[in-house]
Amino acid sequence: MDYKIQASELNLHYGEFHALIDVNLAIRPRAITAIIGPSGCGKSTLLRCFDRMNELIGGVRVTGRILLDGSDIYNPSTSLTQLRRKVGLVFQRPNPFPLSVFENVAYGLRVHEAPDKARLEAVVEASLRATWLWDEVKDRLDMSALGLSPEQQQRLCISRLLAVEPEVLLMDEPCSALDPIATEHIEELMRNLAEKYTIVIVTHNMQQAARVSSETAFMLLGELVEYGPTAGIFEKPSDKRTEEYVSGRYG
Ligand SMILES: Nc1ncnc2c1ncn2[C@@H]1O[C@H](COP(=O)(O)OP(=O)(O)OP(=O)(O)O)[C@@H](O)[C@H]1O
Ligand SMILES: [Mg+2]
Repeated sequence: MDYKIQASELNLHYGEFHALIDVNLAIRPRAITAIIGPSGCGKSTLLRCFDRMNELIGGVRVTGRILLDGSDIYNPSTSLTQLRRKVGLVFQRPNPFPLSVFENVAYGLRVHEAPDKARLEAVVEASLRATWLWDEVKDRLDMSALGLSPEQQQRLCISRLLAVEPEVLLMDEPCSALDPIATEHIEELMRNLAEKYTIVIVTHNMQQAARVSSETAFMLLGELVEYGPTAGIFEKPSDKRTEEYVSGRYG
């Protein structure tokens, strides 16, 4: 099996604080992998390692290795621009730019290349179709993105990433600001996108992890306690700590 992402002996320190401890994790391509665990266990930190976003924070030290398609993303020769194009991050709160719907989706393309009008329009339409947003906004592409509902904004942010043809989508609690119906819609979208993209989702919601993911990683205090097929993690965990967490005894 060729894994999309492979982290080995990954350690991360925030100053003196050891936030990720010897994490080993291999992520399957074109699947949804969930990272679960109680607040503060390092889920977001781990996710941010995959596109090297932690480097924006001062005092962070990372050791170990992360391979993306077999290449070390911490290798000095890795281009951060290329990495961030390949690996897109969806945030907890939808964060569209205060620009029109069209310009939000066109943004990345304008940064990476100088697209002509026809290409730009084609990419914007395809990216909005991929998140089922096209029919909802095609007559008002000039409206401010901030006028969309939170759920539409989250799909717009996903469209914005898709426009630059990523391979991996990292999602950090992408539904936590959404109501249950909007959440269901985003989950359906994720399952659909997983046919083409590798998705890693951090979630506090164990039902969500059970519903959408094929593999689940359980973290506790910076360590990856258990990782494997989602059904096994929830129904037959091998570590007592996993069992206590998934049965709702803490967290
Ligand atoms: N920039 C930072 N500087 C110092 N410590 C940090 C920083 N970011 C996170 N931490 C600490 O690292 C640990 C892991 O944080 P992280 O945000 O990755 O956890 P999390 O599992 O995503 O939590 P939550 O479920 O609340 O989002 C926590 O103890 C947190 O306080
Ligand atoms: Mg977090």
